[in-house]
Amino acid sequence: MQLNTFPTAEKASKYVAEEIAAYIADKNASNEKTVLGLATGSTPIQVYKELINFHQKGLSFKNVITFNLDEYYPMGASEKESYHTYMHTHLFDHVDISGENIHIPDGMLPGDMVKEYCKKYEQKIKEVGGIDIQLLGIGRTGHIGFNEPGSPIDSKTRLVQLHETTREDAANDFGGLRNVPKMAITMGIETILTAKKIYLLSLGRRKAEITKTCLLGEITSERPASYLQGEDHVEVILDQEAGLLIQRDKIN
Ligand code: PGA
Repeated sequence: MQLNTFPTAEKASKYVAEEIAAYIADKNASNEKTVLGLATGSTPIQVYKELINFHQKGLSFKNVITFNLDEYYPMGASEKESYHTYMHTHLFDHVDISGENIHIPDGMLPGDMVKEYCKKYEQKIKEVGGIDIQLLGIGRTGHIGFNEPGSPIDSKTRLVQLHETTREDAANDFGGLRNVPKMAITMGIETILTAKKIYLLSLGRRKAEITKTCLLGEITSERPASYLQGEDHVEVILDQEAGLLIQRDKIN
């Protein structure tokens, strides 16, 4: 695992956006596709702003295919709290990505169709050659995507229960805890780990404890982000506040 700490959230986000933009530009130059695994929440917002800046300066997203990590369940795509709405608001509406290249789990499927749908989501990722770059945030439970404590390392895209801490953290966005869905569809740990390159972005003081525990503590299903330890293709990007408790020499 590589670790990169930046003085501010803005600088950390800018770095990640530059890495993604450079990758897309490189692939565009040889007319190849870029497959991005995308995250939601407050953490990647600035990354998306920077990517929009790159687009305004000429970077095309026509060859970009995206797969989002997760969506609440049940959740209609056009609801204001949906990750569909989030992605369109923060990125897709501002770049030239083609609608058919966007993949976000469907939060409105009837229960008996979810399993098959999740299998197809995995298949689609494989069909386009796998995810080139996966962007991740980290939740206060140590989740990546919505892989909450207890998620096995070989988990794939599936329907999951949200942890109460995760629901509490989302309560403001939903106008109260009672409105936060109890379930979600998420890519699994295995789905995430098979990406060719992973950027885990952790920002702010409130992430310092869980970031330290996941990066330096025991590797355990109780803190799914700990599965990223020891993986050469993982780069952890922190701002100073999130990295406050990390002793750099202990990272492996
Ligand atoms: P946040 O969520 O960016 O809103 O803190 C991160 C996550 O849950 O992955």
